[in-house]
Amino acid sequence: MPRHLRRAERRRSLRRRGAKTCHSACQRSDIHCDKPDGYRPCEDAAVPAPIPVVSDSVITLRRWAGSDARFLLDASEDPAIQRYSLSRSRPLTAAEAQVAVHDYEATWVSAHALDRPSGSLVITDSGTGTPLGQCGIDGWSLGDVAQIGYWLVPKARGRGIATRAVVLLTSWLFDLGASRVFLTVVEDNRASIEVAQRAGFLLEGSTGEQSIWMGRAHEILCFAVAAEEWKRRQQTRVD
Ligand SMILES: CC(C)(COP(=O)(O)OP(=O)(O)OC[C@H]1O[C@@H](n2cnc3c(N)ncnc32)[C@H](O)[C@@H]1OP(=O)(O)O)[C@@H](O)C(=O)NCCC(=O)NCCS
Repeated sequence: MPRHLRRAERRRSLRRRGAKTCHSACQRSDIHCDKPDGYRPCEDAAVPAPIPVVSDSVITLRRWAGSDARFLLDASEDPAIQRYSLSRSRPLTAAEAQVAVHDYEATWVSAHALDRPSGSLVITDSGTGTPLGQCGIDGWSLGDVAQIGYWLVPKARGRGIATRAVVLLTSWLFDLGASRVFLTVVEDNRASIEVAQRAGFLLEGSTGEQSIWMGRAHEILCFAVAAEEWKRRQQTRVD
């Protein structure tokens, strides 16, 4: 589902749930927070700030900034990103890239209103700060289940960056309290299927939906991992 439709669905879902909670993080001076009528403090005080900087020695996941519009514009020229991530057959225009980046920024600024944060993060090189791609949380469904997605610009591929980003993001989501994390992949997207498998996600089967591209229908596959399984594996790695 295109990102803007997912966002609209999430807003509808929040409205249905009457979301008026506020994370403790919104009390940080750098995060704008207008407390709505009916405001009540977040009940899950253990939930960390919804605007993360998730990092290891190789990559850092950070929020989008206005200056990333050029990066997004260039990335949108890649046919694989167009097809599998943007669901379109032409690059963004400069104006569309600016709007999209503004939208990504705004999503995080309003993330305090959500029980669980969602949004896109830029994957950057931890050493140089160079943007390499994006990964993000597309949304949450009942039972604290999070859906993620990702892409890399072509020059960043072939080094394990996407796998590393998925592992970092998934670990962060389980720390936030996700019970399960999943992603969906079009059946002919071999590179992405390998990312999911390398990161430790297991094939659950077809979603029952199809991706239509150039007049051909392709199945959409679901890969997932549960919190207990993830923690058990981490424990095994440590032991
Ligand atoms: C899907 C996508 C992110 C995969 O990128 P990728 O570079 O193949 O994936 P990774 O960054 O995990 O790198 C894996 C490759 O690096 C190699 N590699 C090198 N060092 C590695 C390391 N330390 N760890 C893991 N892999 C490593 C792997 O062997 C693999 O190479 P191979 O494909 O030749 O076997 C990329 O193709 C893409 O952006 N596609 C377009 C958008 C898209 O499809 N998004 C997903 C929608 S579901």
